[in-house]
Amino acid sequence: MVQSSRMTACDNYLYGGVNHRWTELPPMLAFVILLLCACLVSAVIGPIDTAAPSIPGGTVVSAAPPGPFFQDYKPPFPTTGWWVGYAAAPSQDSVVAGPFPYMSRSLDTGLQFGISSARNFDGTSIIQTTQMDWEASYLENPNTHTSHKASAWDTQSVTIKYFASSGAGFTTYLVPGSPYITLNYNAATIILTSRNGNVLSVNGKNVTATPTSFSGTKFTVINGAGTYVIYSLSGSITFSATSVSLTATATHNGVIRLARVTAEATSQSILDQYSTTYPTGVALDYSFSANNATLSFTWNVVGTASQLLHLTWPHHRKRLISPTAIVSGLSYLTTKGYMKPTLGNVWKLNYALPTINWLAPRAPQASCTSQIIQALEYEVQHLTVAVPGDFYFWGKAFQGMARLALIADHVGRPDLINPVISVMKQSFAYWLNGRQSSTYAAYETAWGGVVDGPGASDPSIDYGNGYYNDHHFHYGYMLHGAAVIAKYDTTWWNANKNFITAFARDIGNPSTADKYFTVSRCKDWFAGHSWASGIANGAGSRDQESIGEAVNGYYGLILFANILGNQDLMNWARLLWATEVDGAQTYWHLYPSSNDPDTPYPEPGLRALTTIGNVMDYQAGAWLFWGAQCSEIAAIQILPVTPINEGMYDTAWLNGMWNYVSSELADPTIGDEWKAVIYMAYGEVNPQTSFSRSTNITGWGGTTSQALLLYHLATRKNSSGGNICSATASNPSGTFTIRAPNGHFVSSTGAAPNLVATATAGTPFTFTFMPGGGSIFNNITQQYVTADPNGALPLSSARPVAQAWENFKLLIQADGTYIIRAGVNAAYVGLDGAGALVNNVASTSAATKFTLVH
Ligand SMILES: *[C@@H]1O[C@H](CO)[C@@H](O)[C@H](O)[C@H]1NC(C)=O
Ligand SMILES: *[C@@H]1O[C@H](CO)[C@@H](O)[C@H](O)[C@H]1NC(C)=O
Ligand SMILES: *[C@@H]1O[C@H](CO)[C@@H](O)[C@H](O)[C@H]1NC(C)=O
Ligand SMILES: *[C@@H]1O[C@H](CO)[C@@H](O)[C@H](O)[C@H]1NC(C)=O
Ligand SMILES: *[C@@H]1O[C@H](CO)[C@@H](O)[C@H](O)[C@H]1NC(C)=O
Repeated sequence: MVQSSRMTACDNYLYGGVNHRWTELPPMLAFVILLLCACLVSAVIGPIDTAAPSIPGGTVVSAAPPGPFFQDYKPPFPTTGWWVGYAAAPSQDSVVAGPFPYMSRSLDTGLQFGISSARNFDGTSIIQTTQMDWEASYLENPNTHTSHKASAWDTQSVTIKYFASSGAGFTTYLVPGSPYITLNYNAATIILTSRNGNVLSVNGKNVTATPTSFSGTKFTVINGAGTYVIYSLSGSITFSATSVSLTATATHNGVIRLARVTAEATSQSILDQYSTTYPTGVALDYSFSANNATLSFTWNVVGTASQLLHLTWPHHRKRLISPTAIVSGLSYLTTKGYMKPTLGNVWKLNYALPTINWLAPRAPQASCTSQIIQALEYEVQHLTVAVPGDFYFWGKAFQGMARLALIADHVGRPDLINPVISVMKQSFAYWLNGRQSSTYAAYETAWGGVVDGPGASDPSIDYGNGYYNDHHFHYGYMLHGAAVIAKYDTTWWNANKNFITAFARDIGNPSTADKYFTVSRCKDWFAGHSWASGIANGAGSRDQESIGEAVNGYYGLILFANILGNQDLMNWARLLWATEVDGAQTYWHLYPSSNDPDTPYPEPGLRALTTIGNVMDYQAGAWLFWGAQCSEIAAIQILPVTPINEGMYDTAWLNGMWNYVSSELADPTIGDEWKAVIYMAYGEVNPQTSFSRSTNITGWGGTTSQALLLYHLATRKNSSGGNICSATASNPSGTFTIRAPNGHFVSSTGAAPNLVATATAGTPFTFTFMPGGGSIFNNITQQYVTADPNGALPLSSARPVAQAWENFKLLIQADGTYIIRAGVNAAYVGLDGAGALVNNVASTSAATKFTLVH
C-alpha cells in the first residue's frame, strides 16, 4: 500500500462520513509508484488555525441561513460550490449547473437532472440553456422539505438522501465528471418521471397513456431529451411505463444508473461497458517538489477502480499526467467545452508553481528609477487614510499603498516605507473598532465565515460579501496589505495576527480540522478555478467575472503564508494560485487564431472577442454585469497588476487583447484607470511601448498609480527593446503669472474664481509636479485650478486638493511660450469670447500660447 499522506476532503462531517475505498495495488505497481513518489514531498496541509475566530465586530447570523438540507450537520458549510443551491434559502430548489455534464435540481418531489442540448452563440456569449430531462423519486416519498438532506460531501461532490420514516428512500452520489446519475434505492418503489416531453418509447417499443410492462436490467428510454439508458446493478426490475413515467412494480434495493446516450455511434456501448463501477465522492491530494505540484483526485468508487469511466474538461487534459488516454466515442459539450472520458479512479494533474513573492524578480531598469522615485515621493506625501466603507474598495486602496512600501524598499528609499506603513495602520485600525464603525467585520454563524457584518442581512452591501460573494477578491487585498505591514512591523503583526488570520482561513482554509471555516471556500477544484457567487438568490448559477482579482486573492494568501513562514501553507497557496491562473488561461483568455481541437470554445466568433468577461456555469461571454467597454472587460480580468502576474499574462493573449482594445486606448473618453491597467500588463510584451503610451495618463485610481506603473514596466522580463523609460517633458515648476497672447494676464479671485485673461496684473500661480503632469495652485485663494471634464466651463481655482481633474501638462513651444493640456479630457486650453480659459481645443495648433512670467 502506497503511503501517500492525504488531505481527505471527505471527512467534513460531524456525524459520519463515507469510507474511503482503497484499492489494493499490485506489488509491482506499488513499487513503481513508490519510486516516482520518492522525489515528491507529500504534505498533509494542516489547518491555519483551529481556534474560534475572535472578531472585534462579534458575531452575526445570516438572514438567509441554510435550510433543512443540512439538518444533520453543524456549520461550517460550503457557500460557493456548484451545489450550494440545493441548500440555500429561500426554498432550496435552485437549478444548479452540475454535477457536470448534468445540471440538476433537488426538489421535495425528487431529484431532477438533465444535460443541456442547446448551445447557442448570440454574438457575445455561448449559452447552454439549463434543461431537466428526468426526475428520479420513489412512490413512498413524503414530498416534504425535510425528507431529503445531505448525507455526505467533500470538496467536489455531495451525497443526497431522500428518505421516508418507513426507511424507504434512495441515496444519490452527485459527483462531477460522471456520465451517469447514480441512485441507490432502499426498500423503495422507483419512479422515473419524464421532465422533457413525453416518454416516447422504452426498449424500442412505443408507450402511451396506457401502462406497458418492461422487465430487465437495462432499459433504453426516449423522451424529448433523446435517449437515456437505465442500468440496474442489482437484478431485474419490472417497470410499468406510460408516456409520463416509468414506475417499478415492486420496491427495490440496489443501484440504478441513468446516462444520456450521445449522437456518437459508440456512446451506448461505452456506457454499457463501464456501467457497473460508480463513484461516490472524491479525495484531494497534493504533493510538492520544489516549484512543481501534483494535484490528485482520488475518486472513491464501488466496483473496479480501474474501470471508472469519468469525464475530463479541457483544463484537465492539459494537466493530466495520469491517466492520459482519452476513451474516444463518448463526449458531452458543456459550457467549458467537450467533456471526454478517461479510465481509472486516480487522476494526477501537474502544475508549475509561482516563485515570485513580494517584489519583481529583477531590479528596476536604470532608465526608470528617477521617475519612479519622483512619483513615489509624490504619492507617499499625498497618501490619505482610507476609511473602510466596505471591504472591496478599501482593500484595493490598502493593497495599493502596500505596493508603494515595497517599491520604496526595492528602489532604495527605506525612508519612504514607514510613512506608508503608518498610514496603512491608521486605515486598518478602523476594523478594530468593533461596531463603533458602521462598516465592521463579524463572524457569521449560520454558514460559518467572516463577513461584512451589516451585509449578513443585506446582499446589496459590499457586492454581497455578507452573502459570501467575492470573499477571495476582498480578502486577498486585505491579506496582501496586512502581510506588507507585518513585513515591516512585527509588533503590529503580533497584535493583529489573530484577526488577520480569520480572513486567511475564510478563503484559504486547507483542512477540515478547522471547524469554523469551509475548505478553500471559493475554489472549485474540478472546474479548475474559483467562483465568486455565494448564497444570494438561492445560490443558483455560479459566476466569476474578475479572474485577475481571484488570482490576486491567492497571491494575498501566499504573502500571508510567507509572513507565517509556513512552507506547507505556502505550497497550498501557490497551488491555489497556479490552478486559478490555469483556469484564466483556459477559460477566460481567448485565442482567435488557435487551432487547438481541445479549445473549450469551438465557436470562432466567440474566440474573436479575445477575452471572456464572465465565466458562469451555464454560459460564458465577453460581457460584464457593470460595463460594456472592451477595455473594462479586459482590464477587470487583468487587475491588479503585480509582479507575480507575469505568470498569468501570456504573450498570445496580451497581443490579442492589445488589438481588441486599441481603438479605446486612443479614445479620451475611456477612463485612464483602465488604460493604466492595460499598459502595465502589456509591459510583458513591450514595456517601451507601454511607457510611451502611458505618459498622458493622469487619472490614477483603484489599483494603479504612476509609481506602480513605472515600477512594473521597469521590472519586466522583456526589456530587449532598450531603455524602457525616456525623459518626459516636465512642467515648469515655480510661481508665475500667466500672460495671454492678447497681452492680458490671467486672474482668478475668491469672488470670481474662473481663470480669465483680462487683467493687467495677473494672479500668481504655483506649478508643481503631479504624476502624469502637474498642478496649478492659485497663490491668492489657495485653491487648485480644476478643469471641467466636458470642456464646457472655464478653468477655475476651486479645489482644495489636486486630483485627476486638477492635472495639467504645460508643453513648451519653439518660441518659449506654453500650451496647456487638461488631463481630464485630453483637450487644450483656449480663450473664449470673454477671455476665459476653457479646455475645449482639440489641436495643439489651435491652442492658446501662454507666456509664463516670473
Ligand atoms: C414511437 O417512438 C419513437 C421513438 O422511439 C418516436 O420517434 C415516434 O414518434 C413514436 N411514435 C409515436 C406514435 O409516438
Ligand atoms: C513536475 O513533476 C511531474 C510529475 O512528477 C513531472 O512529470 C515533470 O517533469 C516535473 N516538471 C518539472 C519542471 O520538474
Ligand atoms: C520582447 O520585446 C521585443 C522587442 O520589443 C519584441 O520584438 C518581442 O516580441 C518581445 N517578446 C515577447 C515574448 O513579447
Ligand atoms: C500625449 O500628449 C501629447 C501632448 O498633447 C501628445 O502630443 C501625445 O501624442 C500624447 N501621447 C499619447 C501616447 O497619447
Ligand atoms: C505661492 O504659494 C506657494 C505654496 O504655498 C509658496 O511656496 C510660494 O512662496 C508662493 N509665492 C508667492 C509669490 O506668493
